Amino acid sequence: MNARSPILDPQSSLPPVIAIDGPSASGKGAVAARVAAALGFHYLDSGAIYRVAALVIERANFDPAHAKQQDLADLVARMPLSFSGERVMLGDEDVSDAIRTEDCGRQASVIAVLPAVRQALLERQRAFRQTPGLVADGRDMASVVFPDACLKVFLTASAEVRANRRHKQLMDKGIHASIAQLLQDIRRRDERDGSRAVAPLQKAAGAYELDTSSLSIDHAVAWVLERYEKQKRS
Ligand code: C5P
Repeated sequence: MNARSPILDPQSSLPPVIAIDGPSASGKGAVAARVAAALGFHYLDSGAIYRVAALVIERANFDPAHAKQQDLADLVARMPLSFSGERVMLGDEDVSDAIRTEDCGRQASVIAVLPAVRQALLERQRAFRQTPGLVADGRDMASVVFPDACLKVFLTASAEVRANRRHKQLMDKGIHASIAQLLQDIRRRDERDGSRAVAPLQKAAGAYELDTSSLSIDHAVAWVLERYEKQKRS
């Protein structure tokens, strides 16, 4: 990486950002949250924002395939979303569980292809950049939302490993799911997220790639922290 690190850049008054992107169930959420906790940084789960947007659009009875993009963008720009610790709130309603369903993830990836919706969510995401720093996870953290992130990481894992992880997460919550169906959903979501015209899922320039297929979360967290320390010294 040759971009100047905002950590050491005396002209930059912006808090540092670590951007962690990757496909669905690559482990980025767990890794990002733990890296943020280890550094005492804020944490942004940008996928949760897209999921809440999908929920709000569905509840307003809009069909994303036929609605005017600007109407959807206006709706999500106004949604009363906030984070309270690990809980995701829509006004006074705790929607943390409602947004974690497979269906909501699928709907999120459908509305995420719409440029006006992405634009409406941009500043909301950037507002999380606060002192002493931010760890942000998603699909376009390094490429679009925080292109000046001081460390960019692209986490991957095979689709099979990701389907198995998702299966385990759901079973732990007592939700039955078929691995074959989850694998199919993951492949469809990869295809939609990777092929969209705006902010497609891809490794950003200057990002380090880490394949977590055979890595524990602990290893991945340690790897990111080590990179960050090296980056600070460089
Ligand atoms: O990360 P998560 O699976 O919760 O994200 C749900 C969906 O939201 C993704 O499949 C993707 O389509 C969309 N998304 C996005 N850009 C982000 C985060 C999520 O397009 N930064």
